[in-house]
Amino acid sequence: MAEIEAHESKLYGEFAPLYDRIFGKLFYNRIERVIENLDIPAGAKILEIGAGTGTSFPAYPNHCEVTGVDLAPDMLSRARQKIVENGWHHFKVMEMDALNLKFADNSFDYVMAFHVVTVVPDPIRMIAEAKRVCKPSGRIVILNHFTTDMPVIGTVTRAIDPLTRWLGWRTDLKLKPFIASTGLTVESVYKLSKTSLYTVVLGRKSANGFHPVREL
Ligand SMILES: C[S@@+](CC[C@H](N)C(=O)[O-])C[C@H]1O[C@@H](n2cnc3c(N)ncnc32)[C@H](O)[C@@H]1O
Repeated sequence: MAEIEAHESKLYGEFAPLYDRIFGKLFYNRIERVIENLDIPAGAKILEIGAGTGTSFPAYPNHCEVTGVDLAPDMLSRARQKIVENGWHHFKVMEMDALNLKFADNSFDYVMAFHVVTVVPDPIRMIAEAKRVCKPSGRIVILNHFTTDMPVIGTVTRAIDPLTRWLGWRTDLKLKPFIASTGLTVESVYKLSKTSLYTVVLGRKSANGFHPVREL
């Protein structure tokens, strides 16, 4: 059987409404806290890559302008429905590959990637694109689970990787080597709680547009 791309997983296709009801609800509080912590200023231009059904949308302040991109039409149609139903004029969504963004360099103040680095086929290229379209001094915000070297959890997450890949995401991505290979300048890395499996990485594109590598 031909291998399918992550965005072609049934979870992001015919089961998109189910995704919205289950994962959307589970993910929302986490995303809301990350967005709140950013204190986004009025007029900020934001790109959210792999925006899916627009899980995050209610969390953005309405004084910013948000563009969501995703490759799964069924996920996007849920997002569009929410935009229309809520009369949100500060959102638009577009079908677009996160690995080949159709935006000019230096277009956005923030580039958000919530639960998506472990879904796209090439997360390093995705971050390279995020950096390209981010304005100098703009921020790149990643929220994701990463695998760990802790004996039990690390072994379990690696063991279930084939199953989760079939569902539409991988569980074997390690934070430090991943960030090092993206060359992202990292301002902070934190967890929303001690026991959370999810990590927030705040990156910043340097003022001169270059991207020096910094150790985590
Ligand atoms: C786990 S969902 C996360 C959705 C949303 N960010 C959230 O937190 O609920 C991952 C999303 O990435 C999208 N995706 C996968 N590969 C992609 C690609 N190459 N370009 C854009 N989006 C992609 C999927 O279609 C899916 O909607």
